[in-house]
Amino acid sequence: MSDPAIHSWQLWRDRRGRVSILRLVTLALLLTPLAKAVFQADEIAHGARPLNELIHRAGFWALVFLGVTLAITPFRRIIRYGNLIDVRRMLGVGTFCYIAAHLALFFADQSYSLAKVFHEITHRVYLIIGAIAWLGLAALAATSTDGMVRRLGSLRWRRLHQAIYAIALLGLIHYFQQTKADVTVPTFAASLFLWLIGYRVLAWWQDTSELSTLSLLGLTIVVSLLTFAGEAVGIGIAFHISPLRVLETAFDFEVGIRPGWQVLAAGLVVVAIDAVIARMRSRTPRAHEVAAE
Ligand code: HEM
Repeated sequence: MSDPAIHSWQLWRDRRGRVSILRLVTLALLLTPLAKAVFQADEIAHGARPLNELIHRAGFWALVFLGVTLAITPFRRIIRYGNLIDVRRMLGVGTFCYIAAHLALFFADQSYSLAKVFHEITHRVYLIIGAIAWLGLAALAATSTDGMVRRLGSLRWRRLHQAIYAIALLGLIHYFQQTKADVTVPTFAASLFLWLIGYRVLAWWQDTSELSTLSLLGLTIVVSLLTFAGEAVGIGIAFHISPLRVLETAFDFEVGIRPGWQVLAAGLVVVAIDAVIARMRSRTPRAHEVAAE
């Protein structure tokens, strides 16, 4: 049972052919939105626009899994669990599966007419942006195999896969543009992506692979402030009001909890996890220290 060809389709096994709990959990995570849609099939079918509902679900979960894929690099460092990298490819390909379903459902919604799909995509800016992001994700999924990494060479492969940041940005713009009224959720999503990109920029700037707890705290506060400012300017422009008036509502929790607070809370949880793990690690004697005793 150690033939890699046999294991390649057994997604729950790691490279050595052993059943991996991490892979099983990731598979379950990726299948949950699908299972939920199947479970709610009756309710969806009797809704106003079943296909549109499914288009929204697939697009939303594709963006969520894109974020989870991008979170692997920071989180394997924060929780000091390098093995997390083992599921990054699975998450990336899972993201593409949801985005492929997103387009397939759109095709179905356009009565399976390629001419209509082409017309719609070329006449709406948010669909043009979505289509560019879609093609980008398809290119990354197609080059995600070990064979393609070997063919392209590690450096070229890594450069190509850096397109993921541009793709995420296009996906977010597409999300904002298609949102008709309340942009709270897209703003929160954008702020989480900003945190993930900010982590990489800060690590590159500090020339380190592991940010200190203090740097994580600083990053969280800056991203939270930028989220408040960005949201205030965005709403200000959209409704022709002063951004300062929008900012005044930040403490009015009856209106709702603004995305700036939401990203602050999420970031502080990460900071707390990092602080606890860093403390535990500093208390645990290193292997060579134990050996020397
Ligand atoms: C050819 C490519 C694409 C097409 C034709 C397309 C089409 C659509 C359509 C028709 C909607 C619903 C709009 C409405 O009801 O008014 C939508 C929503 C959405 N799409 Fe796409 N899309 C594409 C690519 C993408 C990509 C690449 C992403 C993410 C990476 C994405 C993420 C989303 C999200 C997050 C939503 C909103 C979901 C929600 O309401 O929660 N789409 N898209």
